[in-house]
Amino acid sequence: MVLDEPWAALSGVSGAALACCFVAAALALRWSSRRTARASAVRARRRQKAALDTMDKAAQRFRLQNPDLDSEALLALPLPQLVQKLHSGDLYPEAVLFTYIGKAWEVNKGTNCVTTYLADCETQLCKVPRQGLLYGVPVSLKECFSYKGQDSTLGLSLNQGVPAEGDCVVVQVLKLQGALPFVHTNVPQSMFSFDCSNPLFGPTMNPWNSSKSPGGSSGGEGALIAAGGSPLGLGTDIGGSIRFPSAFCGICGLKPTGNRLSKSGLKGCVYGQVAVQLSVGPMARDVESLALCMRALLCEDMFRLDPTVPPLPFREEIYRSSQPLRVGYYETDNYTMPTPAMKRALLETKERLEVAGHTLVPFLPSNIPHALETLGTGGLFSDGGTTFLQNFKGDFVDSCLGDLISILRLPGWLKGLLAFMMKPLFPRLSAFLNNMKSRSAGKLWELHHETEVYRHSVMAQWRALELDVLLTPMMGPALDLNGPGKATGCKEERGAARGCAVRGSALAGRAVSAVHAGGGAADEPGQAAILTVAHPALEDPRPAWSCVQPGQGTAAAPPGSVQPGLRLPSPPSVTPYKKPRPMDSGPHFLPRSALCPDHPPCCGSQRA
Ligand SMILES: *[C@@H]1O[C@H](CO)[C@@H](O)[C@H](O)[C@H]1NC(C)=O
Ligand SMILES: *[C@@H]1O[C@H](CO)[C@@H](O)[C@H](O)[C@H]1NC(C)=O
Repeated sequence: MVLDEPWAALSGVSGAALACCFVAAALALRWSSRRTARASAVRARRRQKAALDTMDKAAQRFRLQNPDLDSEALLALPLPQLVQKLHSGDLYPEAVLFTYIGKAWEVNKGTNCVTTYLADCETQLCKVPRQGLLYGVPVSLKECFSYKGQDSTLGLSLNQGVPAEGDCVVVQVLKLQGALPFVHTNVPQSMFSFDCSNPLFGPTMNPWNSSKSPGGSSGGEGALIAAGGSPLGLGTDIGGSIRFPSAFCGICGLKPTGNRLSKSGLKGCVYGQVAVQLSVGPMARDVESLALCMRALLCEDMFRLDPTVPPLPFREEIYRSSQPLRVGYYETDNYTMPTPAMKRALLETKERLEVAGHTLVPFLPSNIPHALETLGTGGLFSDGGTTFLQNFKGDFVDSCLGDLISILRLPGWLKGLLAFMMKPLFPRLSAFLNNMKSRSAGKLWELHHETEVYRHSVMAQWRALELDVLLTPMMGPALDLNGPGKATGCKEERGAARGCAVRGSALAGRAVSAVHAGGGAADEPGQAAILTVAHPALEDPRPAWSCVQPGQGTAAAPPGSVQPGLRLPSPPSVTPYKKPRPMDSGPHFLPRSALCPDHPPCCGSQRA
């Protein structure tokens, strides 16, 4: 035996002692790294708690000083009206900011969606540019949007206590447009899940039912916005990370083409992966708010700060157009099935769009298994997952990641062997495993080329039908907490809601190419991506809503037309939060002198 030799060289006793030493050293190493991870979690939660206390105190102090402010009326204002009142001077940024800080604090109690308070917003108050399109609007940020002096942990202990050196580009642009970024919101560990839990801050709950997930990875945003704690937020999406939480929480989200909004300065856990592109996009309660955010971000400042972003402003003429649209749609892609509620919602939406004068055209992108299994998974894990796994060294792995980490940790040959053995029984799992093996640079180029070819083939299909937008099922209703983990763990699910997750995600976009094939030209700049607005009501028998193209159904829309996204079905009565109620005679806000007693210059001076 080969092993006999070294063992024989050692006397029995010293050999055993050596072996014991190795085991002890390994255990000590593991214990000490786990201790570091545990200490990080303690520090993160302490920081979170301190931030929330600061928020509470700031909001309470403001309420005491301004007892007559009708905060409910303020919170019920749709964003466009809020902006209008801020610009006209009926409302002051202080009132809006501190009211939303108070509300966010309250929402957080039931959902655990806020990871930190960006206390700097109080300093910002005094320098908000009055002419900005988002003058005085509090904006929440998914934790990955770097903010000077704040950690972007992504739920990983190695990022705890590593504050950002500066603001990422979109945050800079938001500030230049007068917005007040005020909180960071929670994400699933590494953001690679459509649940929302991590070992540093714990799970975020769905505001409509705390046994349910808010979706992910922009889950903190979904929960906070849905429950009224923020009028506008920024999320990111690579495989559904804006779309899932928007659907699960019942709000609107927009995933634009890959490089429509700047990604410069964002925190990530893998850099340099270009096959499957990330998008930055807004999330809000209605479509008009998303449009406002796009209008504000697509400005000279962003094009100057990030010259890699195409300098194309928001195309008002397309947004305002009331031309009938050609809407592509499918009920299922034959890879996964929508839930019955989702299918019904899709068909009802289709009917309403037809009644409104639009043309609905069956459309299914070609070769979906190839796009998902080879191009998507292969693109994300071309290095066998090595770079991704480095983030987890010595850290705990959150259960929302399912078996992903264990699977990625398998050596390449074992992945291949397992894939081979599983092929007859679990062909999909087998394909995914095969594509999680590392590949050579040459093979990676091949994959990039295949992706390009696929992207163009889908665009050709799309163009041949002269489509404007795509209506697709989205995953829903919201899954239970930890449900997504079970689905992402590469379990073979057929026909069930769970299976739909993966597909629903990948195709609920404006153009499949944007998701599968790395984004790009398929999305005409300025034209809105599809909005998937699903009902938050979980087991509610009423339909979920998948809506399309904002701008349709505005002024010139025929009677009975849908106003996509503008009218969400009302949330279920079990909600612990007050539904925003319509304004009656208009809110009675305080006169300006009362709102800003300490620093009148900040309110008055920019007026001129
Ligand atoms: C909340 O979700 C749980 C888990 O899915 C479910 O059992 C329960 O009925 C839901 N509650 C309500 C009020 O819908
Ligand atoms: C999906 O599968 C069914 C049954 O095999 C088939 O009839 C249908 O044409 C397929 N749909 C598409 C769009 O491929």
